[in-house]
Amino acid sequence: MINQNKEENKIETLISRAIETKPYPLEVPELQFFQKWDYSISLEDSSFIKLKDSYDLFIGGKFVKPSSGKYFPTINPSNEEVITHIAYATEEDVNKAVQAAQKAYEKYWSKTKPKDRAKYLFKIARIIQERSRELAILETMDNGKPIRETRDFDVPQTAQHFFYYAGWADKLHYLPRSSPIGVVGQIIPWNFPLLMAAWKIAPALACGNTVILKPAETTPLTALILAEIIQEAGLPDGVVNILPGDGYTGSLIVKHPEIKKIAFTGSTEVGKYILKQAGRDKKITLELGGKNPLIIFEDAPIDQAVEAIIKGIYFNQGHVCCAGSKLLVQESILPTVIQKLKDRIKTIRIGNPLDKNTDMGAINSLQQLQKIKGYVEIGLKEGYPFYQKECKLPEKGYWFPPSFFTNVPINSPIAREEIFGPVLTIITFRDPEEACQKANNTPYGLAAGVWTNNPSRLMYVSKKIKAGVIWANTYNQFDPSSPFGGYKESGFGREGGLHGLLEYLQ
Ligand code: NAI
Ligand code: MG
Repeated sequence: MINQNKEENKIETLISRAIETKPYPLEVPELQFFQKWDYSISLEDSSFIKLKDSYDLFIGGKFVKPSSGKYFPTINPSNEEVITHIAYATEEDVNKAVQAAQKAYEKYWSKTKPKDRAKYLFKIARIIQERSRELAILETMDNGKPIRETRDFDVPQTAQHFFYYAGWADKLHYLPRSSPIGVVGQIIPWNFPLLMAAWKIAPALACGNTVILKPAETTPLTALILAEIIQEAGLPDGVVNILPGDGYTGSLIVKHPEIKKIAFTGSTEVGKYILKQAGRDKKITLELGGKNPLIIFEDAPIDQAVEAIIKGIYFNQGHVCCAGSKLLVQESILPTVIQKLKDRIKTIRIGNPLDKNTDMGAINSLQQLQKIKGYVEIGLKEGYPFYQKECKLPEKGYWFPPSFFTNVPINSPIAREEIFGPVLTIITFRDPEEACQKANNTPYGLAAGVWTNNPSRLMYVSKKIKAGVIWANTYNQFDPSSPFGGYKESGFGREGGLHGLLEYLQ
């Protein structure tokens, strides 16, 4: 009896009961044809990659064994296979890395001519381009995101950040401040592992700082390949040190008295904790979570807006701090938007991330998958209409199909909290005032999108929304020259562009 009840309450049972089975009110014959047309498998060839059995810490320009002797496995979340083993940094290693970074700062890097710092950054960018295929494949394996994204977004953007900040290195004297800070600690998340390393390392080096970087525990691999690239570029020993580990390793970096600045990207919870732990003398920048409104007015070009919705929430499996996860649709166009969204979701291909035709890959970890399911369970129990793409998922690995809830009130947890997965929350509004009120009704303030054909409405609404980034008639566009960061519980400080540079100067 008890077992039966358990079965009844299982999230899979709740989902299958909630998924609508009604026929679609609009007939779209082209789409039905399209659905029958299947792609052949088109796997990216990874046979040329020779992975080592284990990867060491990168300290003082050399790969060194961890003082604890401990290594941890990093897995491929699309098939649960162990890719390789990664050294785990503890206190002794953090101290060694800080010493190496201090020495490098005093002896070389703060004395290196700005134009020479630029040359190193250019060289790193060029080697990233040369090794781009390898980096894209490894990032896809370690993270679970599709090769289409690592190849066309993560890796090119990574190189672009080094190129961009190389260009700034010899122009710092034009800025209101131009002295480096010293040794900086940088802690990054798992959703854009290589790109977040570039966002952090490139501006720090351009300004003459030296770096201790800690990648996330589920995705440490490409940061260590970046260490190889840094070595190959001939960067003086100790200018960049890479210490894989978990929250404990991170906390050692945060508390280290010789580290002058902490740059963190990750959860709001850990961000708050870092703020308490770091002490008063450190400079801090925090890039945290978001529940970002994407507002669609009735005069918007709906087909294009639907593409922005798709890109906003299903890009990178929804593991995006600025994901357009809170869709605000003007009431009059709700049925049309929902219908078009369902039709578009049917064309999303979910599966092996190394297949070049895959649109959506695996959820990064079992822990994250459980978090997503937990939120879906809340939405189902609160009783909102639910839609999920019907598709066959691989047997191994962590998967969640693209989904959305409609008719959600603004105070539901699924309208307020970061799900960080491919689950969209749809809310309606009647006029611009209500749209702004519902957009700002959030503890976060990272990003927003506004879709309308009316330029004055666009300006009016954009000014009223409290968010660090506002996309006008587009979504999830990035460029190294454009600053990124949030308000309120989304953190403070900016990354990218001139603003990102100023955070590394005093
Ligand atoms: P997290 O905030 O725990 O991890 C981010 C980084 O911080 C990792 O490198 C981790 O090792 C490190 N870290 C953890 N505890 C630390 C501590 N006490 N001191 C110093 N560093 C520490 O995020 P997690 O647990 O991986 O994901 C949980 C949720 O956080 C996600 O579901 C998502 O909602 C949010 N998140 C937001 C991100 C963003 O880009 N804004 C990125 C990753 C997660
Ligand atoms: Mg992994």
